[in-house]
Amino acid sequence: MTGGVRRAFLGVAVVAGAVAGWVLTAPETVPDNSVSAVGGDVERGRTIFAIGGCVSCHAADDAKGERKLVLSGGRPFVTAFGTFYAPNISPDPDAGIGAWDVVDFVNAMKHGVSPDGSHYYPAFPYTSYARMKTEDLLDLWAYMRALPASGQANSPHAVGFPFSVRRGLGLWKRLYLDPGPVVEVGVDLERGRYLVEGPGHCG
Ligand code: HEC
Repeated sequence: MTGGVRRAFLGVAVVAGAVAGWVLTAPETVPDNSVSAVGGDVERGRTIFAIGGCVSCHAADDAKGERKLVLSGGRPFVTAFGTFYAPNISPDPDAGIGAWDVVDFVNAMKHGVSPDGSHYYPAFPYTSYARMKTEDLLDLWAYMRALPASGQANSPHAVGFPFSVRRGLGLWKRLYLDPGPVVEVGVDLERGRYLVEGPGHCG
């Protein structure tokens, strides 16, 4: 093989590798018209919210009592990859997720994908929430829409390269993200397992 041909082969291999990497890391989402917020049950949502433990990460560090329902974010999580900060998920349209529609929420919870198509870091335990039933997510959404808004701005994560490239998480998800309910909920035992492995994210 001449040097020129070898270089051409190498070029093709690099491009093919880049294309394969891009395809393998692509975010998956639900179709836009597949869910509707209509009919979400706020009272059921309150229970799901309590079991899901959203407060433990998304409330302000020093929040007490009713203030825990203000999901302003800011709590730091120090990990081997860097420090993540829980974002504001209150209904504020600018600082929080008030401008989202229900499809954005389902994509975040079930696919770990943001409205702009980026992967979320698994510091957000969506690998558990992915196993929740969509109807439970719709109830949760209905409840969260009614919580108080906070204008607190998000803190950027302090994560070094290569973990700072969110696209790479697509590969990790192929190994660790298994959306779809844990079991068909029929008897109490199955309900318990569902609550532990899904919304309870005990693992
Ligand atoms: C163990 C801590 C933890 C728990 C528990 C948790 N989250 Fe989060 N959440 C995070 C972190 C950290 C992020 C940021 C992820 C990122 O930026 O990639 C996040 C991101 C989010 C986002 C995306 C926000 C945005 O601005 O893009 C939503 C929505 C969300 N969480 C909802 C929830 C809900 C609902 C619950 C409860 C059912 C919950 N989270 C429980 C840590 C947590």
